[in-house]
Amino acid sequence: MEGVSDDAGFASPVAASSAWESSARSYAGRFPRVFVAAQGPWLIDQDGRRFLDFLGGAGVLLLGHNHPDVQAALAAQARPVGNSLDLLTDAKLSFVETLHGVLPGDLARTHKIHFCGPTGSDAVEAALKLAARATGRRGVIAFHGGYHGMGQGALAVSSSRRLREAGLLMAGQVAFCPYPYPLRFPEPFRTPEAAAGFCLAQLRLMIEDDHAGQELPGLVLLEAVQGEGGTIVPPPGFLREVEALCRRHGILLGLDEIQSGLGRAGRWFAYEDDGIQPDLICVSKGIGGGYPLSLLLFDRRLDVWRPGDHIGTFRGQSIALVAGKATLEVIARDALPDNAARVGARLKEDLARRTAGHPKIREVRGLGLMLGIETDSGATADALQAALFQAGVIVETGGREGAVLRLLPPLTIGAAEVEACLEAFAGALECVS
Ligand SMILES: Cc1ncc(COP(=O)(O)O)c(C=O)c1O
Repeated sequence: MEGVSDDAGFASPVAASSAWESSARSYAGRFPRVFVAAQGPWLIDQDGRRFLDFLGGAGVLLLGHNHPDVQAALAAQARPVGNSLDLLTDAKLSFVETLHGVLPGDLARTHKIHFCGPTGSDAVEAALKLAARATGRRGVIAFHGGYHGMGQGALAVSSSRRLREAGLLMAGQVAFCPYPYPLRFPEPFRTPEAAAGFCLAQLRLMIEDDHAGQELPGLVLLEAVQGEGGTIVPPPGFLREVEALCRRHGILLGLDEIQSGLGRAGRWFAYEDDGIQPDLICVSKGIGGGYPLSLLLFDRRLDVWRPGDHIGTFRGQSIALVAGKATLEVIARDALPDNAARVGARLKEDLARRTAGHPKIREVRGLGLMLGIETDSGATADALQAALFQAGVIVETGGREGAVLRLLPPLTIGAAEVEACLEAFAGALECVS
Protein backbone atom coordinates (compact mmCIF):
# COMPACT_ATOMS: atom_id res chain seq x y z
CA MET A 1 0.00 0.00 0.00
CA GLU A 2 2.88 2.31 0.74
CA GLY A 3 4.01 1.94 -2.86
CA VAL A 4 0.59 2.95 -4.17
CA SER A 5 0.57 5.95 -1.91
CA ASP A 6 4.08 7.15 -2.77
CA ASP A 7 4.00 6.48 -6.50
CA ALA A 8 0.64 7.98 -7.15
CA GLY A 9 1.00 10.83 -4.67
CA PHE A 10 -2.14 10.01 -2.74
CA ALA A 11 -2.61 11.38 0.75
CA SER A 12 -3.26 7.93 2.20
CA PRO A 13 -3.65 4.31 1.12
CA VAL A 14 -7.41 4.67 1.58
CA ALA A 15 -7.46 7.68 -0.75
CA ALA A 16 -5.46 5.63 -3.24
CA SER A 17 -7.96 2.77 -3.08
CA SER A 18 -10.79 5.11 -3.91
CA ALA A 19 -8.88 6.02 -7.06
CA TRP A 20 -8.29 2.46 -8.26
CA GLU A 21 -11.15 0.46 -6.74
CA SER A 22 -14.68 0.31 -8.13
CA SER A 23 -17.19 2.81 -6.79
CA ALA A 24 -19.29 -0.22 -5.79
CA ARG A 25 -16.97 -0.80 -2.85
CA SER A 26 -18.80 -0.23 0.40
CA TYR A 27 -17.08 -1.06 3.69
CA ALA A 28 -13.70 0.40 2.70
CA GLY A 29 -15.34 3.81 2.53
CA ARG A 30 -17.11 3.47 5.88
CA PHE A 31 -14.16 2.03 7.77
CA PRO A 32 -11.22 3.88 6.20
CA ARG A 33 -8.29 2.09 7.83
CA VAL A 34 -5.81 -0.46 6.52
CA PHE A 35 -6.12 -3.66 8.53
CA VAL A 36 -2.99 -5.72 8.87
CA ALA A 37 -3.84 -8.47 11.37
CA ALA A 38 -6.74 -10.11 13.13
CA GLN A 39 -7.35 -12.45 16.03
CA GLY A 40 -10.63 -13.70 17.46
CA PRO A 41 -13.13 -10.82 17.49
CA TRP A 42 -10.37 -8.22 16.91
CA LEU A 43 -9.14 -6.49 13.77
CA ILE A 44 -5.88 -4.57 14.04
CA ASP A 45 -5.00 -1.64 11.82
CA GLN A 46 -1.63 -0.45 10.57
CA ASP A 47 -1.20 1.83 13.58
CA GLY A 48 -1.78 -1.06 15.97
CA ARG A 49 -5.27 0.10 16.92
CA ARG A 50 -7.69 -2.71 17.81
CA PHE A 51 -11.29 -2.82 16.58
CA LEU A 52 -13.98 -5.14 17.85
CA ASP A 53 -15.22 -6.82 14.69
CA PHE A 54 -18.98 -7.27 15.02
CA LEU A 55 -19.33 -7.25 11.23
CA GLY A 56 -17.34 -10.48 10.91
CA GLY A 57 -17.23 -10.60 7.12
CA ALA A 58 -21.02 -10.05 7.12
CA GLY A 59 -21.55 -13.01 9.42
CA VAL A 60 -18.94 -15.36 7.94
CA LEU A 61 -16.59 -15.50 10.93
CA LEU A 62 -18.47 -17.79 13.30
CA LEU A 63 -15.28 -18.41 15.31
CA GLY A 64 -13.75 -14.98 14.75
CA HIS A 65 -10.44 -14.51 12.97
CA ASN A 66 -7.71 -17.17 12.94
CA HIS A 67 -9.24 -19.58 15.42
CA PRO A 68 -6.37 -21.81 16.65
CA ASP A 69 -8.20 -25.07 15.84
CA VAL A 70 -8.89 -23.93 12.29
CA GLN A 71 -5.29 -22.76 11.88
CA ALA A 72 -4.01 -26.09 13.24
CA ALA A 73 -6.22 -28.07 10.84
CA LEU A 74 -4.95 -26.04 7.89
CA ALA A 75 -1.33 -26.34 9.00
CA ALA A 76 -1.67 -30.11 9.42
CA GLN A 77 -2.26 -30.62 5.71
CA ALA A 78 1.05 -31.84 4.34
CA ARG A 79 0.39 -31.53 0.61
CA PRO A 80 -3.21 -30.38 0.24
CA VAL A 81 -5.05 -30.84 -3.03
CA GLY A 82 -5.68 -27.36 -4.37
CA ASN A 83 -8.75 -27.06 -6.51
CA SER A 84 -10.40 -30.41 -7.13
CA LEU A 85 -13.63 -29.44 -8.89
CA ASP A 86 -15.90 -32.18 -7.55
CA LEU A 87 -13.33 -34.99 -7.46
CA LEU A 88 -13.40 -37.02 -4.29
CA THR A 89 -10.71 -35.92 -1.86
CA ASP A 90 -10.05 -36.86 1.73
CA ALA A 91 -10.79 -33.24 2.64
CA LYS A 92 -14.24 -33.51 1.09
CA LEU A 93 -15.05 -36.91 2.54
CA SER A 94 -14.14 -35.92 6.06
CA PHE A 95 -15.97 -32.59 5.71
CA VAL A 96 -19.14 -34.46 4.71
CA GLU A 97 -18.74 -36.95 7.55
CA THR A 98 -18.47 -34.09 10.04
CA LEU A 99 -21.37 -32.19 8.49
CA HIS A 100 -23.55 -35.31 8.68
CA GLY A 101 -22.62 -35.62 12.35
CA VAL A 102 -23.91 -32.14 13.20
CA LEU A 103 -26.92 -31.74 10.91
CA PRO A 104 -30.05 -31.53 13.07
CA GLY A 105 -32.94 -34.00 12.99
CA ASP A 106 -33.01 -36.43 10.15
CA LEU A 107 -31.32 -34.18 7.57
CA ALA A 108 -28.23 -36.36 7.11
CA ARG A 109 -30.48 -39.23 6.05
CA THR A 110 -33.17 -37.37 4.14
CA HIS A 111 -31.10 -34.73 2.33
CA LYS A 112 -28.34 -34.81 -0.23
CA ILE A 113 -25.60 -32.21 -0.62
CA HIS A 114 -24.99 -30.21 -3.76
CA PHE A 115 -21.63 -28.43 -3.74
CA CYS A 116 -22.11 -25.15 -5.59
CA GLY A 117 -19.80 -22.38 -6.69
CA PRO A 118 -18.10 -20.63 -3.79
CA THR A 119 -20.59 -17.95 -2.72
CA GLY A 120 -24.00 -17.99 -1.08
CA SER A 121 -25.58 -16.64 -4.21
CA ASP A 122 -24.52 -19.84 -6.04
CA ALA A 123 -26.52 -21.99 -3.61
CA VAL A 124 -29.57 -19.84 -4.26
CA GLU A 125 -29.14 -20.18 -8.03
CA ALA A 126 -28.95 -23.97 -7.56
CA ALA A 127 -32.10 -23.97 -5.41
CA LEU A 128 -34.06 -22.01 -8.03
CA LYS A 129 -32.96 -24.32 -10.83
CA LEU A 130 -33.57 -27.53 -8.92
CA ALA A 131 -37.04 -26.44 -7.82
CA ALA A 132 -38.01 -25.57 -11.39
CA ARG A 133 -36.66 -28.85 -12.73
CA ALA A 134 -38.19 -31.00 -9.99
CA THR A 135 -41.66 -29.44 -10.09
CA GLY A 136 -41.82 -28.40 -13.75
CA ARG A 137 -42.96 -24.98 -12.51
CA ARG A 138 -40.85 -21.84 -12.79
CA GLY A 139 -42.82 -19.51 -10.55
CA VAL A 140 -41.34 -18.54 -7.19
CA ILE A 141 -42.78 -16.73 -4.19
CA ALA A 142 -40.19 -14.69 -2.33
CA PHE A 143 -40.61 -12.14 0.47
CA HIS A 144 -40.47 -8.40 1.07
CA GLY A 145 -37.12 -7.62 2.72
CA GLY A 146 -35.50 -10.82 1.45
CA TYR A 147 -31.90 -10.80 0.29
CA HIS A 148 -30.40 -13.80 -1.49
CA GLY A 149 -27.34 -12.52 -3.33
CA MET A 150 -26.09 -10.92 -6.49
CA GLY A 151 -26.47 -13.59 -9.18
CA GLN A 152 -29.31 -12.78 -11.58
CA GLY A 153 -31.54 -15.52 -10.15
CA ALA A 154 -30.68 -14.61 -6.56
CA LEU A 155 -31.32 -10.95 -7.34
CA ALA A 156 -34.66 -11.80 -8.92
CA VAL A 157 -35.83 -13.24 -5.59
CA SER A 158 -34.35 -10.35 -3.57
CA SER A 159 -36.63 -7.44 -2.82
CA SER A 160 -34.50 -4.25 -2.76
CA ARG A 161 -35.56 -1.88 -5.54
CA ARG A 162 -32.12 -0.31 -5.62
CA LEU A 163 -30.33 -3.63 -6.10
CA ARG A 164 -32.89 -4.93 -8.57
CA GLU A 165 -32.31 -1.96 -10.87
CA ALA A 166 -29.06 -3.64 -11.96
CA GLY A 167 -30.61 -7.01 -12.78
CA LEU A 168 -31.78 -8.72 -15.96
CA LEU A 169 -34.53 -10.24 -13.89
CA MET A 170 -36.70 -13.31 -14.46
CA ALA A 171 -39.63 -11.05 -15.26
CA GLY A 172 -43.02 -12.27 -14.19
CA GLN A 173 -41.82 -15.43 -12.49
CA VAL A 174 -41.27 -14.08 -9.00
CA ALA A 175 -44.01 -12.66 -6.79
CA PHE A 176 -43.30 -11.11 -3.40
CA CYS A 177 -45.25 -11.70 -0.21
CA PRO A 178 -44.91 -9.53 2.93
CA TYR A 179 -42.71 -10.92 5.74
CA PRO A 180 -43.89 -10.28 9.33
CA TYR A 181 -42.47 -6.90 10.34
CA PRO A 182 -44.82 -5.52 13.01
CA LEU A 183 -42.82 -2.34 13.61
CA ARG A 184 -43.41 -1.10 10.07
CA PHE A 185 -46.83 -2.62 9.42
CA PRO A 186 -49.98 -0.47 9.58
CA GLU A 187 -52.55 -0.95 12.32
CA PRO A 188 -54.01 -3.45 13.17
CA PHE A 189 -50.99 -5.61 12.21
CA ARG A 190 -48.45 -4.23 14.66
CA THR A 191 -48.19 -7.24 16.95
CA PRO A 192 -46.11 -10.27 15.92
CA GLU A 193 -49.20 -12.50 15.79
CA ALA A 194 -51.28 -10.06 13.74
CA ALA A 195 -48.37 -9.40 11.39
CA ALA A 196 -47.81 -13.12 10.84
CA GLY A 197 -51.53 -13.67 10.30
CA PHE A 198 -51.61 -10.90 7.69
CA CYS A 199 -48.60 -12.33 5.81
CA LEU A 200 -49.99 -15.86 5.89
CA ALA A 201 -53.34 -14.63 4.56
CA GLN A 202 -51.50 -12.91 1.71
CA LEU A 203 -49.47 -16.02 0.98
CA ARG A 204 -52.59 -18.14 0.97
CA LEU A 205 -54.24 -15.79 -1.54
CA MET A 206 -51.15 -15.72 -3.74
CA ILE A 207 -51.19 -19.50 -3.88
CA GLU A 208 -54.89 -20.31 -3.86
CA ASP A 209 -56.50 -17.50 -5.85
CA ASP A 210 -56.48 -18.58 -9.48
CA HIS A 211 -56.58 -14.90 -10.39
CA ALA A 212 -53.44 -14.09 -8.38
CA GLY A 213 -51.62 -13.09 -11.56
CA GLN A 214 -49.02 -15.81 -11.41
CA GLU A 215 -48.93 -19.48 -12.26
CA LEU A 216 -48.86 -21.86 -9.29
CA PRO A 217 -45.27 -21.53 -8.05
CA GLY A 218 -42.86 -24.43 -7.71
CA LEU A 219 -40.99 -22.85 -4.81
CA VAL A 220 -41.56 -20.64 -1.80
CA LEU A 221 -38.15 -19.25 -0.78
CA LEU A 222 -37.43 -17.29 2.38
CA GLU A 223 -34.88 -16.54 5.05
CA ALA A 224 -35.63 -18.19 8.39
CA VAL A 225 -34.52 -14.88 9.95
CA GLN A 226 -34.07 -11.98 7.55
CA GLY A 227 -30.56 -10.56 7.67
CA GLU A 228 -29.89 -7.76 5.19
CA GLY A 229 -33.59 -6.85 5.28
CA GLY A 230 -33.02 -5.56 8.83
CA THR A 231 -32.61 -8.56 11.17
CA ILE A 232 -36.26 -9.51 11.25
CA VAL A 233 -37.35 -12.58 13.22
CA PRO A 234 -40.72 -14.09 12.35
CA PRO A 235 -42.82 -15.17 15.34
CA PRO A 236 -42.77 -18.85 16.39
CA GLY A 237 -45.03 -20.98 14.22
CA PHE A 238 -44.83 -18.74 11.14
CA LEU A 239 -42.53 -21.07 9.23
CA ARG A 240 -44.69 -24.04 10.23
CA GLU A 241 -47.72 -22.37 8.64
CA VAL A 242 -45.73 -21.54 5.50
CA GLU A 243 -44.65 -25.17 5.30
CA ALA A 244 -48.24 -26.39 5.71
CA LEU A 245 -49.40 -24.19 2.82
CA CYS A 246 -46.56 -25.45 0.63
CA ARG A 247 -47.34 -29.08 1.42
CA ARG A 248 -51.04 -28.61 0.72
CA HIS A 249 -50.30 -27.32 -2.78
CA GLY A 250 -47.27 -29.40 -3.79
CA ILE A 251 -44.93 -26.40 -3.60
CA LEU A 252 -41.35 -26.85 -2.45
CA LEU A 253 -40.21 -24.97 0.65
CA GLY A 254 -36.74 -23.47 0.34
CA LEU A 255 -35.00 -21.83 3.28
CA ASP A 256 -32.05 -19.53 2.93
CA GLU A 257 -29.99 -20.13 6.09
CA ILE A 258 -26.86 -18.57 4.62
CA GLN A 259 -26.72 -15.92 7.33
CA SER A 260 -28.87 -17.42 10.08
CA GLY A 261 -27.48 -20.96 10.01
CA LEU A 262 -24.71 -22.88 11.78
CA GLY A 263 -25.41 -21.65 15.30
CA ARG A 264 -25.76 -17.93 14.75
CA ALA A 265 -29.46 -17.94 15.66
CA GLY A 266 -28.80 -19.91 18.86
CA ARG A 267 -29.41 -23.30 17.24
CA TRP A 268 -27.85 -25.07 14.26
CA PHE A 269 -30.53 -23.76 11.91
CA ALA A 270 -32.91 -20.93 12.73
CA TYR A 271 -35.93 -22.91 11.46
CA GLU A 272 -35.48 -25.76 13.94
CA ASP A 273 -37.83 -24.57 16.67
CA ASP A 274 -40.72 -24.61 14.22
CA GLY A 275 -40.23 -28.36 13.75
CA ILE A 276 -40.32 -28.23 9.97
CA GLN A 277 -38.43 -30.11 7.29
CA PRO A 278 -37.54 -27.75 4.42
CA ASP A 279 -37.10 -29.31 0.98
CA LEU A 280 -34.14 -27.08 0.17
CA ILE A 281 -31.69 -25.33 2.50
CA CYS A 282 -29.05 -22.89 1.24
CA VAL A 283 -25.90 -22.82 3.38
CA SER A 284 -22.76 -20.72 2.95
CA LYS A 285 -20.93 -17.91 4.83
CA GLY A 286 -19.45 -19.71 7.89
CA ILE A 287 -19.56 -23.24 6.44
CA GLY A 288 -16.08 -22.79 4.92
CA GLY A 289 -14.48 -21.63 8.17
CA GLY A 290 -13.78 -18.20 6.66
CA TYR A 291 -13.01 -19.52 3.17
CA PRO A 292 -15.47 -19.58 0.24
CA LEU A 293 -17.79 -22.58 0.31
CA SER A 294 -21.46 -22.89 -0.49
CA LEU A 295 -23.86 -25.77 -0.59
CA LEU A 296 -27.45 -26.70 -1.11
CA LEU A 297 -29.02 -29.37 1.06
CA PHE A 298 -32.00 -30.87 -0.74
CA ASP A 299 -34.46 -33.67 -0.14
CA ARG A 300 -33.25 -36.91 -1.76
CA ARG A 301 -36.49 -37.35 -3.67
CA LEU A 302 -35.71 -34.14 -5.59
CA ASP A 303 -32.47 -35.42 -7.06
CA VAL A 304 -33.42 -34.94 -10.69
CA TRP A 305 -30.09 -33.37 -11.60
CA ARG A 306 -28.21 -34.93 -14.50
CA PRO A 307 -24.40 -34.99 -14.28
CA GLY A 308 -23.04 -31.51 -14.93
CA ASP A 309 -26.42 -29.76 -14.64
CA HIS A 310 -25.19 -27.20 -12.11
CA ILE A 311 -21.44 -26.94 -11.98
CA GLY A 312 -18.69 -24.40 -11.27
CA THR A 313 -14.91 -24.37 -11.17
CA PHE A 314 -14.57 -23.63 -7.49
CA ARG A 315 -16.72 -26.35 -5.95
CA GLY A 316 -13.94 -28.24 -4.25
CA GLN A 317 -11.46 -26.04 -2.43
CA SER A 318 -9.62 -28.20 0.11
CA ILE A 319 -8.71 -25.18 2.16
CA ALA A 320 -12.40 -24.32 2.69
CA LEU A 321 -13.39 -27.94 3.29
CA VAL A 322 -10.67 -28.41 5.92
CA ALA A 323 -11.36 -25.07 7.61
CA GLY A 324 -15.09 -25.76 7.42
CA LYS A 325 -14.76 -29.19 9.02
CA ALA A 326 -12.65 -27.74 11.87
CA THR A 327 -15.19 -24.94 12.33
CA LEU A 328 -18.13 -27.36 12.56
CA GLU A 329 -16.21 -29.44 15.09
CA VAL A 330 -15.50 -26.41 17.29
CA ILE A 331 -19.12 -25.24 17.09
CA ALA A 332 -20.30 -28.69 18.21
CA ARG A 333 -17.57 -29.28 20.82
CA ASP A 334 -17.96 -25.89 22.49
CA ALA A 335 -21.78 -25.86 22.22
CA LEU A 336 -21.55 -22.49 20.44
CA PRO A 337 -25.22 -22.36 19.40
CA ASP A 338 -26.01 -22.34 23.13
CA ASN A 339 -23.41 -19.65 23.73
CA ALA A 340 -24.92 -17.58 20.91
CA ALA A 341 -28.37 -17.97 22.48
CA ARG A 342 -27.18 -17.06 25.96
CA VAL A 343 -24.79 -14.21 25.14
CA GLY A 344 -27.09 -12.87 22.42
CA ALA A 345 -30.05 -12.75 24.79
CA ARG A 346 -27.99 -10.80 27.30
CA LEU A 347 -26.64 -8.38 24.73
CA LYS A 348 -30.11 -7.82 23.31
CA GLU A 349 -31.58 -7.23 26.74
CA ASP A 350 -28.83 -4.79 27.74
CA LEU A 351 -29.08 -2.90 24.46
CA ALA A 352 -32.85 -2.68 24.86
CA ARG A 353 -32.52 -1.42 28.43
CA ARG A 354 -29.90 1.19 27.57
CA THR A 355 -31.81 2.48 24.57
CA ALA A 356 -35.29 2.42 26.12
CA GLY A 357 -36.99 5.77 25.65
CA HIS A 358 -34.24 7.14 23.39
CA PRO A 359 -36.07 9.25 20.80
CA LYS A 360 -34.02 7.89 17.88
CA ILE A 361 -34.10 4.18 18.71
CA ARG A 362 -37.24 2.35 17.64
CA GLU A 363 -36.53 -1.28 18.50
CA VAL A 364 -33.86 -3.78 19.48
CA ARG A 365 -34.50 -7.27 18.10
CA GLY A 366 -32.87 -10.45 16.87
CA LEU A 367 -32.20 -14.06 17.64
CA GLY A 368 -28.99 -15.46 19.07
CA LEU A 369 -26.06 -13.41 17.82
CA MET A 370 -27.93 -11.93 14.89
CA LEU A 371 -29.03 -8.64 16.40
CA GLY A 372 -30.54 -5.46 14.98
CA ILE A 373 -31.14 -2.00 16.40
CA GLU A 374 -33.68 -0.09 14.37
CA THR A 375 -33.20 3.68 14.47
CA ASP A 376 -35.43 6.45 13.19
CA SER A 377 -33.51 6.90 9.91
CA GLY A 378 -30.57 5.90 7.75
CA ALA A 379 -28.84 9.12 8.83
CA THR A 380 -29.03 8.12 12.51
CA ALA A 381 -27.79 4.59 11.75
CA ASP A 382 -24.89 6.02 9.74
CA ALA A 383 -24.01 8.45 12.55
CA LEU A 384 -24.10 5.64 15.12
CA GLN A 385 -22.01 3.38 12.90
CA ALA A 386 -19.41 6.14 12.50
CA ALA A 387 -19.36 6.91 16.24
CA LEU A 388 -18.99 3.22 17.07
CA PHE A 389 -16.10 2.98 14.64
CA GLN A 390 -14.45 5.95 16.34
CA ALA A 391 -14.89 4.07 19.61
CA GLY A 392 -13.34 0.93 18.11
CA VAL A 393 -16.38 -1.21 17.20
CA ILE A 394 -17.27 -2.23 13.64
CA VAL A 395 -20.92 -2.95 12.86
CA GLU A 396 -23.05 -3.30 9.74
CA THR A 397 -26.04 -1.20 8.72
CA GLY A 398 -28.96 -2.45 6.66
CA GLY A 399 -32.70 -2.82 6.50
CA ARG A 400 -35.27 -0.42 5.12
CA GLU A 401 -33.69 3.00 4.41
CA GLY A 402 -30.49 1.61 5.95
CA ALA A 403 -31.96 2.48 9.36
CA VAL A 404 -30.89 -0.69 11.18
CA LEU A 405 -27.55 -1.27 12.91
CA ARG A 406 -26.69 -4.94 12.53
CA LEU A 407 -24.48 -6.93 14.89
CA LEU A 408 -22.98 -10.24 13.71
CA PRO A 409 -20.22 -11.01 16.23
CA PRO A 410 -18.42 -14.36 16.42
CA LEU A 411 -20.30 -17.07 18.33
CA THR A 412 -17.30 -17.30 20.65
CA ILE A 413 -17.67 -13.88 22.28
CA GLY A 414 -17.95 -13.60 26.02
CA ALA A 415 -18.76 -11.08 28.72
CA ALA A 416 -15.73 -8.84 28.10
CA GLU A 417 -16.57 -8.23 24.43
CA VAL A 418 -20.23 -7.69 25.27
CA GLU A 419 -19.22 -5.11 27.86
CA ALA A 420 -16.88 -3.34 25.42
CA CYS A 421 -19.65 -3.17 22.82
CA LEU A 422 -22.20 -1.84 25.31
CA GLU A 423 -19.81 0.82 26.54
CA ALA A 424 -19.04 1.98 23.00
CA PHE A 425 -22.74 1.98 22.21
CA ALA A 426 -23.56 4.14 25.21
CA GLY A 427 -20.99 6.70 24.03
CA ALA A 428 -22.23 6.56 20.43
CA LEU A 429 -25.80 7.16 21.54
CA GLU A 430 -24.73 10.45 23.10
CA CYS A 431 -23.44 11.56 19.69
CA VAL A 432 -26.93 11.25 18.18
CA SER A 433 -28.90 12.61 21.12
C1 LIG B 1 -29.45 -14.62 3.54
C2 LIG B 1 -28.41 -14.45 2.47
N1 LIG B 1 -28.50 -15.15 1.35
C3 LIG B 1 -27.59 -15.04 0.37
C4 LIG B 1 -26.52 -14.17 0.50
C5 LIG B 1 -25.52 -14.06 -0.61
O1 LIG B 1 -24.32 -14.64 -0.23
P1 LIG B 1 -22.98 -14.24 -1.01
O2 LIG B 1 -22.74 -12.81 -0.77
O3 LIG B 1 -21.93 -15.13 -0.42
O4 LIG B 1 -23.22 -14.56 -2.45
C6 LIG B 1 -26.39 -13.41 1.65
C7 LIG B 1 -25.29 -12.45 1.81
O5 LIG B 1 -25.27 -11.60 2.66
C8 LIG B 1 -27.37 -13.54 2.67
O6 LIG B 1 -27.30 -12.83 3.80
